[in-house]
This record gives sequence, structure tokens and C-alpha cells, in this order.
Amino acid sequence: MTTIKACIFDLDGVIVDTAVYHYKAWKRLANELGFDITEAQNENLKGVSRMASLDLILGWGGVTKTEAEKEQLADQKNTWYVDMINKMTPDEILPGATEFLQACLDAGLKTALGSASKNAGIILEKTGITHFFNAIIDGNKVSKPKPDPEVFLKGAEELSIPAENCVVFEDAIAGVEAAHNGGMKAVGIGSPQVLTEADLVVSGLDKMTIEKLKTL
Ligand code: BG6
Ligand code: MG
Repeated sequence: MTTIKACIFDLDGVIVDTAVYHYKAWKRLANELGFDITEAQNENLKGVSRMASLDLILGWGGVTKTEAEKEQLADQKNTWYVDMINKMTPDEILPGATEFLQACLDAGLKTALGSASKNAGIILEKTGITHFFNAIIDGNKVSKPKPDPEVFLKGAEELSIPAENCVVFEDAIAGVEAAHNGGMKAVGIGSPQVLTEADLVVSGLDKMTIEKLKTL
């Protein structure tokens, strides 16, 4: 059993469901390039960085682009994505997320955000939850994508809590792996059939309690 002193949260798919906006923007880009992407394919993009997502999508469409063209395509997708997330409201916070964040703070635990997204700041601001985090690590502060543990280790460092006393909340397989690679516990948000490596899996933060942290 581990003494948990800090909770580190992924954003997309754990606190808000932005996957639908990423999907709409990537689909529009694929359509302009002459092919389509399915929701099933979109599943493979969860937790994957912007450029790595673009590479996967171009591969599915059998399209080859130069590095400069790829930069331009990623920028175009991001413009469409930002247009959508700029319209987000607190109503889009997933059930139980703010309640569990508050419960962590009330229990004297530290909280951090550990997200691959360079747009995390906008999402936190639009949904009004920035103040729930003692540290915010997003895609602008890291260079190595999950399953590298960089994003979570930086979070632990900023909180001054040793990695072994941290637990990560993640909806992506690569995110669970990143937590373990950093020597942290991982609570999977989603299905136990998918997040097989997680130390505990719950369907959402509405099913998470401080008591359950003590079983890790
Ligand atoms: C992750 C999402 O949180 O952030 C991915 O799950 C996304 O789908 C990645 O590609 C990077 O996001 P952004 O906002 O920097 O393009
Ligand atoms: Mg996620």
C-alpha cells in the first residue's frame, strides 16, 4: 500500500470530453484531403500528441506530406479546434470531476494537471476550474509524449511530492503506462477491458472517493 499525497489528472477524457472536438477538427482536415476518419480510428488518437495524431491520420489516408506542409495542416486543425473549445462552458465538465478535485483538496492532498494538450489553459479557463490545481503541466511544458512519464514527473516536482506518493488519473492506455514508467500509481478512467494495466479502474470521477485512494 502507498501513501498518496498528490493526485495528478489528465484533462481530455478525465475532466472534460474534448475528444469529440478533436475528432470533428481532424475529420474536417481529412475530408479536405479527400478521405474520411471513423470514430473507431479516433479512439487511437486519445492521449496522442498533435503531430503524432496527424502522422497517424495521414497514414490512414495514404497521404504523404512534407514537414512544412504537416506544420500547416496541424495549425489548420488547431484553429478549428480552438474555435470549438473557446465556446466551452462549465456544463461540459464530466460528472463528479469538480467534486472529486474538491474532495482531494479538502483531504489535504495536492492536485496537478498533467495533459499533453497545448490548449489545456483555454479549456480550464472556459470551464472555470483552473483554481482546483496546485500545479499545471500541459503540452507547452513537455517535450516527450506519453508513455514517457515527463508530464507527470514535472507535475510531482512542481508539487514537491515524491513520485511514489502520486496517483495519476488517466483515460488513455499510454497515460497509464506513463504513470507506471514514472513510478506512480494509475487509476484508469473508462473500461477495465481497455485499461488492463491500471491499478484500479472506475467509469468516471463520479465513482472515485478518497477512501478508494487508500486501497492503492
Ligand atoms: C491530448 C488529447 O490530451 O492532447 C489528444 O487526448 C491531443 O487527442 C493531445 O492530440 C494534444 O492536444 P493539442 O490541444 O495540443 O492539440
Ligand atoms: Mg486523456
